[in-house]
Amino acid sequence: MTNATSPFAALMDITARPPTVFVKGEGAYLWDEKGKRYLDFMQGWAVNCLGHSPAIVADALALQARQLLTPSPAFYNAPSLTLAKALVARSCFDQVFFANSGAEANEGAIKLARKYGALHKNGAHEIITFVGGFHGRTLATMSASGKKAFEPLFEPKVPGFPKAQLNDLDSVKQLISDKTVAVMLEPIQGEAGVWPATNQFLRELRDLTKAHGLLLIVDEIQTGMGRTGKLFHYEHAGIEPDVMTLGKGIGGGVPLAALLATGHASCFEHGDQGGTFNGNPLMCAAGLAVLEHVGTPEFLKSVADAGLFLESELQRLSARHGLGDVRGRGLLLALDLKLPIGPSIVAQAFEAGVLLNSPQPEALRFMPALNVTREEISEMIDGLDTILTKMGAARLVA
Ligand SMILES: Cc1ncc(COP(=O)(O)O)c(C=O)c1O
Repeated sequence: MTNATSPFAALMDITARPPTVFVKGEGAYLWDEKGKRYLDFMQGWAVNCLGHSPAIVADALALQARQLLTPSPAFYNAPSLTLAKALVARSCFDQVFFANSGAEANEGAIKLARKYGALHKNGAHEIITFVGGFHGRTLATMSASGKKAFEPLFEPKVPGFPKAQLNDLDSVKQLISDKTVAVMLEPIQGEAGVWPATNQFLRELRDLTKAHGLLLIVDEIQTGMGRTGKLFHYEHAGIEPDVMTLGKGIGGGVPLAALLATGHASCFEHGDQGGTFNGNPLMCAAGLAVLEHVGTPEFLKSVADAGLFLESELQRLSARHGLGDVRGRGLLLALDLKLPIGPSIVAQAFEAGVLLNSPQPEALRFMPALNVTREEISEMIDGLDTILTKMGAARLVA
């Protein structure tokens, strides 16, 4: 039910949002229409890898907008060719399909795996995914996700996504049959509360999938593009997956995503995949500007360093208030609160002008811009410290 007098009434009410309108962003900060400033440790849900409205993205967009918006996906355009080449050069993959959202890239990965199964594995079509995994909100990606809240929704689901347990190789082995074509996972389960796959699990999974002739698909929509201190998370484990999806940070704030595959896995034929806006030059120009900046060794080192600083500050805070572990990698971290106080902390932080995220009631997730400064990290920690002190977190947990 909507209240027609509300200024928000014309938008579908798809989630609870504070009655605030944001009008400006710059670096680590957002401003609302009343002029209140917020320190942003969500950054559009891990999207703005260079902060709000970075000049390099704004300039790339302005330049490209004056030159060519879109020639149609039936023709090549220069920014998509250059960006695809750069992604291929920086990864273990050979070909790229550009999409407009993470879910669309994952939907493409699912289709690619099913095509691979049709061509090479007698029609095998099942993709083993993981309890707690999140892959998007299209029907197939919701079905692939292992999110509890999705279970009763939009039945019947798309079939063919048996669920294993993260970091439990036997649970994967038990699901493999002649119907299996691929295994798909987030290297760090973000929405579930930042639960990392171990390097060992990723390596064992790579060996297992190779031994069975299965594709290994990594959903790096949240972990990719430098978020964990390497350009792509799979590099930490020293493995080479067959398929990867990117989204969020790849556009630095604009809707761009990508599906990458090795030559062997890249098996789409004409008519299998496409979309009006896929690979449009405007978004690819932004992606190119982001990759040129984020992909340098100096920048990636600065992400790893900032991640270590944030991690140690969170650990200090946790010890002070008797909270739990800090988990994650680089600038995708979570603080275990031990109690379901996340939503209350997020609400109080909002009032105090700090934007935080609680993907699960017992955890806070931190996904600041990759160029976040130590001063900004300290400012956030001070704000959180004040809230936890006010709440008497230490007493609550004890
Ligand atoms: C790991 C992962 N995959 C897929 C998605 C879906 O991306 P999008 O919201 O751009 O469709 C998300 C979004 O949060 C994600 O974190």
